[in-house]
Amino acid sequence: MSSPSDDDPRLPRGRLVERVGLDANRRAEQLAFFDLGAEDIARLAAHRPAAVREVDDVITRFYDHLLRFPDLDRLLHAEPGRLERLQALQRDYFLSLTDDPTALDHVEARLRVGYAHQRIGLDPAWYIGAFALYLRLILRQLVVERGDGATILPTVESLVKTIFFDIALAVRTYIYGGYVTRHTAETLERAATVAADALRAREETERMKDELAAMVVHDLKNPVHGILMMTELALRKGGDLPDAHRGYFQQIAVTCGEMMRLIQNLLEIAKIEEGKMPIAREPIALPELVRDIIQELQLTATQAGRTLGARLPTALPNALGDRALVRRVLVNLVGNALRHSGSAHVEIEANPGPRASEVTIAVRDWGRGIPAAMQERIFEKFASIRRSPADEPIRDTGLGLPFCRLAVTQMRGRIQVESTAASTRFVVTLPAQDE
Ligand code: HEM
Repeated sequence: MSSPSDDDPRLPRGRLVERVGLDANRRAEQLAFFDLGAEDIARLAAHRPAAVREVDDVITRFYDHLLRFPDLDRLLHAEPGRLERLQALQRDYFLSLTDDPTALDHVEARLRVGYAHQRIGLDPAWYIGAFALYLRLILRQLVVERGDGATILPTVESLVKTIFFDIALAVRTYIYGGYVTRHTAETLERAATVAADALRAREETERMKDELAAMVVHDLKNPVHGILMMTELALRKGGDLPDAHRGYFQQIAVTCGEMMRLIQNLLEIAKIEEGKMPIAREPIALPELVRDIIQELQLTATQAGRTLGARLPTALPNALGDRALVRRVLVNLVGNALRHSGSAHVEIEANPGPRASEVTIAVRDWGRGIPAAMQERIFEKFASIRRSPADEPIRDTGLGLPFCRLAVTQMRGRIQVESTAASTRFVVTLPAQDE
């Protein structure tokens, strides 16, 4: 259901009853506290004809009183026609005093009137004082109507005045003492503590998970290395091995190499993230490094039925970085391209630039491209992304590219992917050594 505030930009959207925390239970509690019930509803309704008779007189007296005070006079005459408009509104308000005060719509309408006054910055003491005035005028009217009780009226009026004055003073102490600000601050502080505790608990769990993962990974390294050594030994010594067996051993060696790469990635990501990995800043001759890598991955390429090549310019400045780390970044990128792009050929290129103080090394394939929406996500940890729905994942480990980005960033470089349906380039840019 739409509410009047949906059209009026000065009012908050949605119903005020909920916004000020007066849900059904709270409303019932307040009504019980004020002892407002069926009897009052009936009495108020019975008073309606008298209210109609007296309304004009009450409204006139009400504003006569307010207009005696310069601040209120100014406010009531702040714009042409305001006073006349208010007198009409006040008339409706006065008559609605005989409506059922427990009805939800009635409570909402009252809150809106209160909200309008706080919005125009009316001091609560004026506002509460005006209610006292209202009450006095009504009581006076009642006595005149009924023709009795005239003797107690002055005392009732004085009591109403002094009690409402007390309320206005009490409201002042709330405001002066910063009750609202304090209450809000306390609520915020409690919320902040809860959030901080939750965050700490989460960090602790994350830390324990990381530690456990690092331990498991570390313990895996030795057995995998053992298998790799034995397989390589078998391949070297077993000259008379049947071709099929030699093929199996080669497959085992490649798989073990992959596992070692995964383990290394995991361990190094953890070390870099904890700031425990010293990162060298040494000159790296890229042509030499690229040739090494091609040699290292030749077997993987042949097994996958791919070819691996390099395109190197004759003159290229040295890169500045950690040689072992750059090597591992490239092994990851080339490994991924060989296994997951579907390209028959993979090429490593090195080039000066794009800025004078930089060099780039790119790994290029002509296989399935990486959709634009995924190009950033592939560098996130454990984001298993596929080049197309039917494909195997782009990366087997889920850690190769996050490792590359972390390592390259640590060496003050950057890594980017440029991919179309026809070809993909992972470009690593590193600082160049000054000549
Ligand atoms: C018994 C106390 C009061 C009642 C019942 C009352 C009632 C109302 C009502 C029904 C409205 C219309 C609200 C709306 O736009 O929805 C209104 C607005 C207004 N009231 Fe009062 N009022 C009271 C006290 C005062 C006092 C003491 C002042 C001081 C001058 C005042 C100044 C105004 C002004 C300036 C507006 C116009 C706000 C605007 O332009 O939107 N009211 N009042």
